[in-house]
Amino acid sequence: MKFFLDTANVDEIRKYQDLGIVDGVTTNPTLLSREKDRGDFRDVLLEICSIVDGPVNAEVVGENYETMFEEGMKLARMHENIVVKIPMTREGMKAVHALSGEGIQTNVTLVFSPNQALLAAKAGANYVSPFVGRLDDISTFGVELIRDLVTILGNYGFETEILAASLRNPTHVVDCAAAGAHIVTMPFKVLDAMFNHPLTDKGIAAFLKDWEKMGAKI
Ligand code: G3P
Repeated sequence: MKFFLDTANVDEIRKYQDLGIVDGVTTNPTLLSREKDRGDFRDVLLEICSIVDGPVNAEVVGENYETMFEEGMKLARMHENIVVKIPMTREGMKAVHALSGEGIQTNVTLVFSPNQALLAAKAGANYVSPFVGRLDDISTFGVELIRDLVTILGNYGFETEILAASLRNPTHVVDCAAAGAHIVTMPFKVLDAMFNHPLTDKGIAAFLKDWEKMGAKI
């Protein structure tokens, strides 16, 4: 399973890149807007590309095919690791089809149903991003969509990777892993929380307390 960080904050990315567990990054207009004081968004994206040797997702903001295609080409030319994020719309799927024809990596975002994911896969998307948390927010079971997509896309051998997004807590990661998602993208706080367990803390404290009785050094 690949771990992506869902952030445009380079400090957060650096913290866990050193552990070798960050396989990629996803950004979106909201996440980039939070870093606006760090300068031009292009510089932020390029700095992220310099930190993470993996897919770095950047989203188009155009609403028609022509604009999305043009924006996608511009973003892709920035760095070889840039993946172009495109929203699940009719115009967006036309842009996905055209960009994939140019050899540009694409990720279809704001996906909330199996039909939307099927359309993205048929358009040639390299990744599809179902938003688990936002489905949970409206009292539906977001992870069930992940489970359905693993079956549906697998039934027909689509190479489109399922990139579970909008994850809000460590249990979302576990559920998506059990469901078979190829990738999870998560905020820094979720990745950070995955390390924590009170019994680990308790066990370390007990080991160190007993070791102190030895008065020895390794
Ligand atoms: O990658 C999509 C993600 O940033 C959306 O998360 O918590 O706003 O639903 P959230």
